[in-house]
Amino acid sequence: MLGPVILAASRSDRMRRLVSAAPVTKQVVDRFIPGEDVDDIVPVVRELADHGLELTMDVVGEDITNPAQAAAARDAYLELVDRLKPLELGTRAEMSVKLSMFGQALEGGHELALSNVRPVVEAAAEIGTTVTLDAEDHTTLDSMFAIHEELRKDFPQTGCVIQAYLFRTEADARRLAASGSRVRLVKGAYKEPASVAYQDKHETDRAYVRILRTLMAGEGYPMIGSHDPRLIAIGQELAHQAGRKLDEYEFQMLYGIRTDEHLRLAAEGHRMRVYTAYGTDWYGYFMRRLAEKPANLRFFARSMLTK
Ligand code: FDA
Repeated sequence: MLGPVILAASRSDRMRRLVSAAPVTKQVVDRFIPGEDVDDIVPVVRELADHGLELTMDVVGEDITNPAQAAAARDAYLELVDRLKPLELGTRAEMSVKLSMFGQALEGGHELALSNVRPVVEAAAEIGTTVTLDAEDHTTLDSMFAIHEELRKDFPQTGCVIQAYLFRTEADARRLAASGSRVRLVKGAYKEPASVAYQDKHETDRAYVRILRTLMAGEGYPMIGSHDPRLIAIGQELAHQAGRKLDEYEFQMLYGIRTDEHLRLAAEGHRMRVYTAYGTDWYGYFMRRLAEKPANLRFFARSMLTK
């Protein structure tokens, strides 16, 4: 029951001010967001890569209000690409972007987001890596998929995310699997109405398995974005049934969540990619992590009370 309340709070400016100003927030935030700028994050990239892990890097900050902020977001990613270049990790360090941060919700947002994301995808390709478009709330997805299709004309490796809780996703998965795309499947992290999304966790889990089966049987590259032990085991089994080799799909998890499992899967020879977010505008990302697991909220509340 707490999850939807926290997700509603994630859209509130008043809560944003309260949570961001709390003195203990930072130590809890650090668990999920290991740095505020690119200088903090380069050593983290090196360390994870040294442990045999791959990365997808996210510069946090989806709540922008003007085109200058969207351009600044683009520049932050371009700086990241510059800093990744000497590490020579290629696709072992790719990027995840939220199109809202590139201006998608502003006036003329579809074109603006496309024009801001394209240079990032080009720069990524120049250093031998790629970009995945994150999935945000359901109202943004037609635009996201259209931008994905457009980018793939020149950069076929550009990936996208689909969310198992949405009714539309089984059809999206069939289309993307047939087109040979890189697709990250997640359960979904936004508060969505019953008209578009399953409200019951078990229904979402069952949809996840159906969709993953479609992706595994298709022409594309499935990326299993989940920490759920049951879905990870099912993912391995479906990959095996589809005759996929270890480099023909991958697992993805968030930085700071089930770290032992990251290392276990990598040690078994799986491609294991850690979604690593950094930046100062962490509120929305952090609140979604709290909503996913109420125990995080209890930990957060306790640390506020004991200070
Ligand atoms: P579930 O929530 O059932 O969790 C399974 C277990 O994992 C829990 O029992 C717990 O042990 C652990 N766990 C999960 N979340 C935790 C947390 N926050 N803190 C501590 N432990 C936790 N969503 C979206 O809408 N758009 C997107 O683009 C993305 N991108 C994305 C990338 C990657 C790599 C991942 C892993 C996830 C996303 N998500 C996302 C988030 C996703 O939709 C979903 O909210 C979370 O992954 C939680 O769902 P699980 O599949 O992990 O299962």
